[in-house]
Order: sequence, then C-alpha cells, then structure tokens
Amino acid sequence: MKHIAVIPGDGIGVDVTREAMKVLNRAQEVYGFKLEMTHFDWSADKYLKEGVTLPEGALDMLRKEYDAIYVGAFGDPRVPDMKHGDDILMGMRYGLDLFMNFRPVKLLHEDLTPLKGRTPKDINFVIFRENTEGLYVNLGGLFKKNTPNEVAIQAEMNTRLGVERIIVAAFEYAKKNGRKSVVMVDKSNALKYGGNLWQRTFAEVSARYPGINASTQFVDACTMWMVLKPDQYEVIVTSNMFGDIITDLGAALQGGLGMASSGNINPGNVSLFEPVHGSAPKYAGKNITNPIGAVLSASLMLDYIGYPEAAKGVEDAVIHTINAKNVTRDLGGSLTTTAAGDAICAAVK
Ligand code: IPM
Ligand code: MN
Repeated sequence: MKHIAVIPGDGIGVDVTREAMKVLNRAQEVYGFKLEMTHFDWSADKYLKEGVTLPEGALDMLRKEYDAIYVGAFGDPRVPDMKHGDDILMGMRYGLDLFMNFRPVKLLHEDLTPLKGRTPKDINFVIFRENTEGLYVNLGGLFKKNTPNEVAIQAEMNTRLGVERIIVAAFEYAKKNGRKSVVMVDKSNALKYGGNLWQRTFAEVSARYPGINASTQFVDACTMWMVLKPDQYEVIVTSNMFGDIITDLGAALQGGLGMASSGNINPGNVSLFEPVHGSAPKYAGKNITNPIGAVLSASLMLDYIGYPEAAKGVEDAVIHTINAKNVTRDLGGSLTTTAAGDAICAAVK
C-alpha cells in the first residue's frame, strides 16, 4: 500500500485532478494494487479564507508519511502575487529537495503536433530540468524602488553539487532506458560563470558514460532545433530557467500544454507529480479542460512508486482514446473533461 497526498490546488487543477484520481482508481482495480489517497485543500481559497498557504509541519508530514504527492495546479486572479503558489509549490520543490524536474516530450499521435510531417517516432525525448537553483532562487533585490534610478538585481545561483546531480540524473536515465545521447543546453557563450561551471561539470560527468554520445547546445539554437529537427533529441539536461522555457515548447510539440506531464523528483524520497499546465482560471469548473497531462502525470507517479506495468497501461489507455478521437475540444474531439476521463478509464485494461 502506497500513500499519496493529493493537492488539487486552484482553477482547472481541481477538474483535472478529479479525472486523474478516477484513472488511478481504475488502475488499482485492473492491476490489483492499493493506493491510499489523502486530499489536502491547500489553495488560493484556503489562503484567502484562513491566511494559510503551506501549513506548519506539512513538509515533515509529507516526508514521513507519503510515498508521492499529486498536484493539480496553482494560480488565482485574487492572489496576483501568487503568494500561496510560491509557498506551496516552491515550498515543496525546495523543502523536499525535488531537484529533478522530469518532463517527457513524447508525441502520442501525429495529428497532435503542429510540426508538418512529424510522427511519434520523431518526437520522443525527455528533458531534465534542474529544479532547485538557477534564476529561481531569487537572489538579489530592488534598490531605489520607484525612483528613476531604480535597480533590480536578479542573480543566478549554480552550485557544483546542484549542476552535477542533475547531469548525473540525465546520464543515469539514458543508461537505464537505452537512450544513446544526452544534450546539455546552456548559454555559455554569453553567461560566462554559470555556463563555465555547467560546461566543465558536463565534460567530467559525460566522461564516466563512454557509451553515451554527449554534446552541448546553446538554448537559442535549441529552440530552433526542437522545431526543425526534434528527432535528434533523446535526453536534454538544462537549468531551471531554460528548462521552464523549452518544456513549454516541448508541450506544444506534443499537442499543447494540456498534454504535458511532469515529475518533481528526489530519487528514493517523496516526490511530486503535476501536469505542466497552469490553473487556467477562465476554464475552471467548465468541464472542458483536457485531462491528459494530468493523467499522464499520474502515470509517471505510478512508475515512480513501483507500478511500471500500471503506468504503461494508463499511457496506453490515453493513446487508445486519442486514436479513437475520444478527446476534448483542444484535441479536435467533442468530449467534456469528465467524458474524456471516463473514456481513459474504460480503456485501462
Ligand atoms: C512550471 C511553471 C512554474 C515554473 C511557475 C508556475 C512558477 O511554469 O512548472 O513550469 O516556472 O516552474
Ligand atoms: Mn513553466
């Protein structure tokens, strides 16, 4: 029995989490394992009502009592500074040291990609996004705020340990999954210090994996190549900021943000799974959102907690519904979120 903390969050996070839970329940019946789900109402609503974001003791509880965390999305127009999202999502990313943001870019059907003539065999790679450092640590400050001489400093933090462990994770993944190449994406032609650390670390780590072809690309070129020649990629490893940007592009290649899944992972410890999309407040509660990114994130979670067959079964079920056009409007179908979730459930065999 595995324990899952479920945090639907805000907006469409609630709608898609409902479907992901249905699919997880179905997978338990079909594959014969047991998950215990505990729901937490950490959200904009709770913050606005009670002033609570990530409750006291939450990180310890998650660390000790849970095998995985499932998140819908955060973001609400009533909280313009995203204080609750920062505290909850970033609180868990940093507090649980979820240094590996694993984001597959896998085309499930050729009709879904905006790239002309590309098929699933051309678009099938994974991005390892560093998830605890970089520009996201908010080192810096505002000086002389609201004056004509205002200064904003936003420094980037790259540590040897942080850079090395994400690069190692990418190579280990490649080795275990029969992938033959790892591309490190940086901007070392302009960003001299951080870039230098990433380049040196990548050269050292890659030398330990002689069977894997290692190369580097600048991030501007990478965005071009992801569109022009996506079939060159098997594994990409990159920093937090560049990873954020290229994984949205990756989502588009797969059919849109609604398709993309992710895991925020600390290997061997409690880890967090969430769709890449945000809370899309204007679609919240309308039952029109595509649940596939959320369902595929649940599939990544199943794999992580030790049910790889069920994970594969859920992914196959998603592919089945796409082939049958039993999908939501964003994918050219006509189903509601609920009906699309039901169709996936029915296809889990
Ligand atoms: C993502 C999101 C977050 C990020 C936002 C909501 C802060 O865009 O998970 O990609 O930038 O990490
Ligand atoms: Mn993003």
